[in-house]
Amino acid sequence: MDLKNLKDLVKDIEVKNMINADVEVVNNSPLTMMGKGRQGAVFLLSDTICVKVFGNEEDCEREYVALSMGQHTDLFPKVFDKGTLHIAMEIIQGVDLREYLQSQPLSPELMDKLIAMLITFKEIGYERIDHHKRQIYLQPDGSLKVIDVARTIWRDRVYPYPRKLLTSLGEENKEVFLSYVQSYAPELHQEWLHYIEMEQLSRTIYQLLLNNPSDKKASKKAIKALLTTIDEQTYAHQLESLLHKVYKEEWVKAMLARGVDPDEVMEKIDKYLEGKNISFSNGKFSKKDNKHYGKGKGLTGGFGGGYY
Ligand SMILES: Nc1ncnc2c1ncn2[C@@H]1O[C@H](COP(=O)(O)OP(=O)(O)OP(=O)(O)O)[C@@H](O)[C@H]1O
Ligand SMILES: [Mg+2]
Repeated sequence: MDLKNLKDLVKDIEVKNMINADVEVVNNSPLTMMGKGRQGAVFLLSDTICVKVFGNEEDCEREYVALSMGQHTDLFPKVFDKGTLHIAMEIIQGVDLREYLQSQPLSPELMDKLIAMLITFKEIGYERIDHHKRQIYLQPDGSLKVIDVARTIWRDRVYPYPRKLLTSLGEENKEVFLSYVQSYAPELHQEWLHYIEMEQLSRTIYQLLLNNPSDKKASKKAIKALLTTIDEQTYAHQLESLLHKVYKEEWVKAMLARGVDPDEVMEKIDKYLEGKNISFSNGKFSKKDNKHYGKGKGLTGGFGGGYY
């Protein structure tokens, strides 16, 4: 297969992302579609190579980066070419675990392979080491391969245990897998159970909150207690604290930038700021000597100059 013409072929394939559904495909190329999902559609290029055409550039880039991170292992399809909306990769042979488990048991040998897969994901540095069973393939030689890895990276939040893998196995096989992990790695099993319990508790609490909405009228009234600008003295005190905090933070930044340990001068900063007698009237801050707070020599000149 000459990958030089690939760009032209891909140009004739239009892939459109849909909301909560697989992509829509208009294929004006001679390529045969092998399958599709929510992020892209996959076409046959040769006996061993396929091309995944994406609905958007970010998904393509993300899957490419994730695949690239794992190329040194034997878990993923080899990548041959990348365009803004396509990735040419090795065709994964064999049978996916969803199909396999319909007729075969989740054996200890297979579970060992799944645990090894999770370890490899972790070693690669994926943020999510969790994978649905339909994206995991058993090869004719018995080894595992994984497709569709975009969602393993660039994530803010992930479940801290392989939730998707476990739930996708189904209730019965989930228990088989959990008790295997229990006998094999009790500490890990404990940790997974802990997260499963925390998740259940979170769900229960969410339902509880949903069914017992707070009395909004009462809380609206009560929320006034949090206001700080009604009383002038309170307001003055709050503003002073705010300036104090900002000033201190900026000082720490300056100290760090100069390679000085900020802890050493922290106490002095506090003493300096506390020693300032600041009053507030007619909507203005002033020091005893009537200079405006923060202006002129007051904070920056006096204190700052002394410690630079
Ligand atoms: N490297 C490959 N070798 C063989 N078949 C593949 C390969 N990559 C994808 N496929 C087939 O194409 C289908 C869609 O691919 P894939 O799951 O990567 O798409 P997706 O849009 O990212 O899916 P999802 O909606 O789960 O994110 C797969 O279910 C599989 O049948
Ligand atoms: Mg995907």
